[in-house]
Amino acid sequence: MTTVVVVGSGIAGLTAALHAHENGCRVTVVTKGALPDTNTRWAQGGIAAVTHPADTLASHAADTVTAGAGLSDPAAVDVLVGEGPARIAELVGRGVAFDRTADGDFSRGLEAAHAMPRVLHAGGDATGAEIQAALGAAVRAAGLTVREHEQLRDLVVRDGRVTGIELDGGERLDADAVILATGGAGQLYAHTTNPLGATGDGIAAAIRAGAAVADLEFVQFHPTALAVGAPFLVSEAVRGEGAVLIDDTGRRFAFDAHPDGELAPRDVVARANARAMAAQGGRPVRLDATALGAERLAQRFPTIDAAVRERGLDWARDPIPVTPAAHYLMGGVVTDLDGRTTVPGLYAVGETARTGVHGANRLASNSLLEGAVFGARAGDAVARDGHWPVAPGTAQAVIEPVTATDAPPFSRAALQQLMWEEAGLIREADGLARAAAVLASWSAGPSPRSIEDASLLLVASHLVSAARARTGSVGAHFRSDAPDAETPASTPLAGTAHTDVIPASPEVLAC
Ligand code: SIN
Repeated sequence: MTTVVVVGSGIAGLTAALHAHENGCRVTVVTKGALPDTNTRWAQGGIAAVTHPADTLASHAADTVTAGAGLSDPAAVDVLVGEGPARIAELVGRGVAFDRTADGDFSRGLEAAHAMPRVLHAGGDATGAEIQAALGAAVRAAGLTVREHEQLRDLVVRDGRVTGIELDGGERLDADAVILATGGAGQLYAHTTNPLGATGDGIAAAIRAGAAVADLEFVQFHPTALAVGAPFLVSEAVRGEGAVLIDDTGRRFAFDAHPDGELAPRDVVARANARAMAAQGGRPVRLDATALGAERLAQRFPTIDAAVRERGLDWARDPIPVTPAAHYLMGGVVTDLDGRTTVPGLYAVGETARTGVHGANRLASNSLLEGAVFGARAGDAVARDGHWPVAPGTAQAVIEPVTATDAPPFSRAALQQLMWEEAGLIREADGLARAAAVLASWSAGPSPRSIEDASLLLVASHLVSAARARTGSVGAHFRSDAPDAETPASTPLAGTAHTDVIPASPEVLAC
């Protein structure tokens, strides 16, 4: 029987786990928090998919490619939008109660850069939480082994193939396939909408194992995180419902940047916000949702409504202060359309992976969809790829083990500030060179540090290298020293193999 370890428990990981299980594999889910402690749970806006007869796959695909600044891989886009409706049906079958209209149809929201309303939501703005709960319940009901509060220490590599993982406590879990679904690395930045666990552990482990990564320079900054109290996302759907951005003088400035104003692609609006903030001494811009009224705000956005009120604000009466914040990593571990990385036995899905689907900038609400579509494909693929017999006695190594310590050679806060200032929304050559030098000095410091800090440092170094290599501006990667120039699509930055050398399947044994 094929054994599969899935690291991470968001929509991509749990979908992959369920598909592998349903294909007859023996699956263990490993997660460093509790099962529901994921970025998925925080997702507010919803999940984009074509579910209305007036909508078309071509329209969803075109919006995806336009948001991606033309760098999206068309084959990946076709898979994403084409398989979206089936994955929505699957989620419904697993118990996700998407919001519906009075006549029982899906309620569909409009978000930035979508040609039409196609974003399904659940519990108003609690879509991720609803999906997380349903998938978690499905995993429990299916009897999958779940190892909570277990930190991935590293991948185990034998003869160039991943054969399992090592946990922080030293225990090894052997597997025919390891699926990395650890999310992104929002904690690289001083301001992020991501939870504390988003430290790029899977991407870093894949780099250490020799897997190719690409497009790490493409970090999406969400335009609107609450600028009061702990970081908190204010969904794009709020602007989709009619809220507008204003500066200190009350002027709507988003149309200066793009004819679609507040509903322009996310990177455009985020930079417009950053510029408006810079022009008013760094003070946050404000999101004016007062036209929606108290009742609508509370009913359509109950989670945000509660967070706003907890901070002593009344957004039905006053515009609320918002700031851009790191939100999503378009790049990651290079995979084919079934999640296979360039290292045999290693798969990656969701935000950890770079399928090419998002190009230089992800379309709103395509991330939950990505997790569902490519998670399912990877879960099916590991079953097809099958069991890899390993010759007994061959050398088995954990690549570059890292050791936890309470004396890290750099502070997390210093790393986050450096990345925010030099590799954030607006970048230029000197700042990136400075960041690279500082990161290199930290890398050269005493080796023992926390696993998460080691992950962040490694991913930061690759991200800054990628940002230096891409000398023009495109999508989410904006260089103030070359604001108009675009550069060709990126190539993998690390690893021994290339995107076009996806490992062939071994002999396929029945699961
Ligand atoms: C949002 O609700 O604005 C975020 C959704 C997304 O990241 O696509």
